[in-house]
Amino acid sequence: MGGLLGWAYRQRCCPPQPLPADIRLDGKTAIVTGGNVGLGLEAAKQLAAHGLSRVILGVRTPAKGEAAKEEIIRDSPGCDVQVWALDYESFESMRAFSERAATLDRLDMVILSAGLKFIEFIQSRTGHEMHVQVRPTPNPSQVNHLGTSLLSLLLLHPLQHTARATGTPSRLTIVTSEVHFWTPFKEKDASNTLSRMNEPDSFNPGITRYNTSKLLNMLWLRELSGKAGPDVVVNGVNPGLCLSAFHRSDTGFGQRMVNKVLAWTSEQGGHCLVDAAVRHPEDRGAYLSEQVVTESVFFFPLWWWV
Ligand SMILES: NC(=O)c1ccc[n+]([C@@H]2O[C@H](COP(=O)([O-])OP(=O)(O)OC[C@H]3O[C@@H](n4cnc5c(N)ncnc54)[C@H](OP(=O)(O)O)[C@@H]3O)[C@@H](O)[C@H]2O)c1
Repeated sequence: MGGLLGWAYRQRCCPPQPLPADIRLDGKTAIVTGGNVGLGLEAAKQLAAHGLSRVILGVRTPAKGEAAKEEIIRDSPGCDVQVWALDYESFESMRAFSERAATLDRLDMVILSAGLKFIEFIQSRTGHEMHVQVRPTPNPSQVNHLGTSLLSLLLLHPLQHTARATGTPSRLTIVTSEVHFWTPFKEKDASNTLSRMNEPDSFNPGITRYNTSKLLNMLWLRELSGKAGPDVVVNGVNPGLCLSAFHRSDTGFGQRMVNKVLAWTSEQGGHCLVDAAVRHPEDRGAYLSEQVVTESVFFFPLWWWV
């Protein structure tokens, strides 16, 4: 069932389930970006609870990462939890992070969960629109789309290397959203779509640009999946609407009411992330929603009316 009504029904009636208890991840290493809080932290905790040997939290504020590490170790003392600095707004930071990842003896799983939402036009530190900046510069940076895309490319090699050594495909999961359906994506008609997105007058106040950034996540991961080869299973996951710090820029009455009535907990959102990263090994380039593979229908027009 598509559109807003279908989404509301599924939020009410299809709560995510935890991984089956018999799934074990002993010996494996995972990276979780945005792992200091919200869905990323919950996913890291759940992976550790299933015996994961090492989890690397990619965080932009190390002190927050250290607090998250304590929380994970409290429940799963056997897990080696490492906090690595990572800022999606800095090309240098992403490159340093991936160079460090290349020194790992193995990397089985990556969950790219870091992301943000603004309802006003915000420029990143390099002067480009925060959700989807693009102009090629000596120091390009961006969070939801370019940060995620670049990091997924940079981490592909260690994932492939581990898959060849272990004989088991590695996993790369990008956290997208149901809202990727809900964008008219008018910028696609511009001669340079991504440059257009850097222009303040292309930004309509509200969540449309965030929605577009999540559509770009989907388009990117489909393309990447085709190019990654058999060694890496790439997929995208919709965690559903969840209570977390994510909605801090959007404190309007409507968002608060929807959160109150329909939102899942961060723990439930974490169930979706680990389900996508651990199960569904045959589903390459898939979009998972409510923990099942779901068709992604781009530019679905009914959202205007439903
Ligand atoms: N919550 C929802 O309802 C919902 C629904 C659909 C999809 N999602 C997606 O789920 C993912 C996680 O969201 P969440 O609910 O866990 O949000 P959250 O609690 O706000 O956590 C977001 C994480 O991203 C990190 N982050 C933000 N900007 C960053 C940057 N420039 N570099 C590195 N890390 C950065 C944050 O770090 P700091 O703590 O330092 O800010 C935080 O760790 C996002 O991709 C979001 O789009 C969320």
